[in-house]
Amino acid sequence: MKLLHNIFQVAGPGLSHGFDATAYLLKGMGGWFLIDCGTPEGFGQIKENIKKAGADPAQIKFILGTHGHYDHVGAAHLWRQEYGCQLFLHERDIPQVEEGDSQMTSAALLYGTKSVPCKVDGKINEGNIWQGDGFTTQAVYTPGHTMGSVSFAIEAGGYRLLIAGDAIWGGYSHKIGSDEALWRESLDKLTSMHFDFYTFGHVNAQLIADADRRLKEAQMAFANYYNPWFKTFFEEYHY
Ligand SMILES: [Fe+2]
Repeated sequence: MKLLHNIFQVAGPGLSHGFDATAYLLKGMGGWFLIDCGTPEGFGQIKENIKKAGADPAQIKFILGTHGHYDHVGAAHLWRQEYGCQLFLHERDIPQVEEGDSQMTSAALLYGTKSVPCKVDGKINEGNIWQGDGFTTQAVYTPGHTMGSVSFAIEAGGYRLLIAGDAIWGGYSHKIGSDEALWRESLDKLTSMHFDFYTFGHVNAQLIADADRRLKEAQMAFANYYNPWFKTFFEEYHY
């Protein structure tokens, strides 16, 4: 489904297998690329969604992973095998993906399955920029959900879009490498920036408007979000 010119959501709730987190298809200056790529269970449907968006899965050059979890990059080995796509991740999440560590990738913990080891071709660092056809994509290092979590700030036609992965509303567990202090810093960082729209790892295909206020709400809800012992300040979360 089209989100902005040359930017599509191709995986996530209502679009592909229930295991898949959101994934995005973007038209780069040198060819198509993905931000996250879903699970092996969703591989076939995601390819169909890419075709519906007007791209050929065989044209996809590389995958930028928001982090090394199964629901986000679990199918990366299939993309490599079938199309020779390269995979890029922040260095702190590379070992768990290359080793196929089913606990750290959350494959065993949340999905009752195993990760397949996948070679990672390069690192994503803070500030890296990828030129799109009509937009730019910049990496923002936002650890906390995992140590290698990255968000992407997209500038398109005068609008700023945040692709947050699980840095917003992601689960917190030491079993998957979460760190509370770093996550707080990442939320401070994201809320100090301006965005018109945002989207994150587990949401329907949509751009969420009023992003600055909603990201601030997510930041304020963080303390009680991952720890149900505390009462929430908000009756419901406004995605
Ligand atoms: Fe995650």
